[in-house]
Amino acid sequence: MSDDILTIRNLETDYKLDNGGYVKAIRSLDLDVRKGESLALVGESGSGKSTLALSIMRLIDRPNKIAHGEIIFHDKDRDISVLKLGDLDLRVFRWKKIAMIFQSAMNILNPVMRVENQFFDTFVAHNIEDDYNQRIDKYLTIAGLGPKVRRLYPHELSGGMKQRVSIALALSCEPELLIADEPTTALDVVVQREILFELKQLKRNLNLSIIFITHDLSVASAVSDRIGIFYAGRIVEIGKKGDVISRPAHPYAKLLLGSIITLNTPRGTDLVSLEGSPPDLSKEITGCSFYDRCPSRVKQCLSYNLEPVKVGEDHYVECLRAQELLDSEE
Ligand SMILES: Nc1ncnc2c1ncn2[C@@H]1O[C@H](COP(=O)(O)OP(=O)(O)O)[C@@H](O)[C@H]1O
Ligand SMILES: [Mg+2]
Repeated sequence: MSDDILTIRNLETDYKLDNGGYVKAIRSLDLDVRKGESLALVGESGSGKSTLALSIMRLIDRPNKIAHGEIIFHDKDRDISVLKLGDLDLRVFRWKKIAMIFQSAMNILNPVMRVENQFFDTFVAHNIEDDYNQRIDKYLTIAGLGPKVRRLYPHELSGGMKQRVSIALALSCEPELLIADEPTTALDVVVQREILFELKQLKRNLNLSIIFITHDLSVASAVSDRIGIFYAGRIVEIGKKGDVISRPAHPYAKLLLGSIITLNTPRGTDLVSLEGSPPDLSKEITGCSFYDRCPSRVKQCLSYNLEPVKVGEDHYVECLRAQELLDSEE
């Protein structure tokens, strides 16, 4: 049996441009998500984090497309090839196997429906057959809300409460993998902290695997077991949280992390902005995509085949010079 809940191989997701071309927002990405882990994906705005989440959920619609690749969900007794699911199977798969929390709860809550009716609709849509009332109360409580919330409309809830309702909804179909895409970015810091704490408890109690997407490194370090650094549609470094934060090896990760961000950096501290801009994803990129901005670049980087370099136990970096750069620091 696999220790992973999700395996992604060679995934490419494209957005169609008005001029007929495509933006390759995800570029031949490989990723393994382990059972029971919380994996934080961190990167600047526009690096492709949401596109990856939407691709996993099969929420990329025409004319945009998943151009190629494989996404395998390792269910208890079989492997599910997500990109091959038909409409009917997809409906059961979504929410029951993998659920997603969006940055804004408004994306998911229907403003003219009482909270409980949103749950009823979800249960019916996903063929859930047990006691609906019990299930609603259970997940509202788990998300830190009282039973009175059931009868309220979204406009009667604060931003934090709405986000909690969307967490309760996502969990109520008892998924094995939860994808949280900047779930606390729109909230104030105190509420943010409470919700992050709640998610951590949930992971432990429900044995969830979580992909936690954020542009905020301190949030990532608060919630994750592993961290993946996203750049230009790929994960350029991935490893245990402590290793990535204390010993980043990719020049991009080093610049992002700088010396200022530590585990004690207050939440809400955004990534530093770097000089230059990310590459144009509508053009072909050969070799390393960070080349133009990289202080450590050499000519060979332009023909680098992007084979990850292992720099420690469970620590991989997409940089030809990763080991050499680390050694030179010691
Ligand atoms: N619907 C869309 N149509 C065209 N381009 C898009 C669309 N959504 C995202 N993009 C582009 O894809 C890239 C990745 O975006 P996104 O996945 O939203 O990044 P992130 O979540 O990391 O901020 C960006 O260049 C963005 O401009
Ligand atoms: Mg996003």
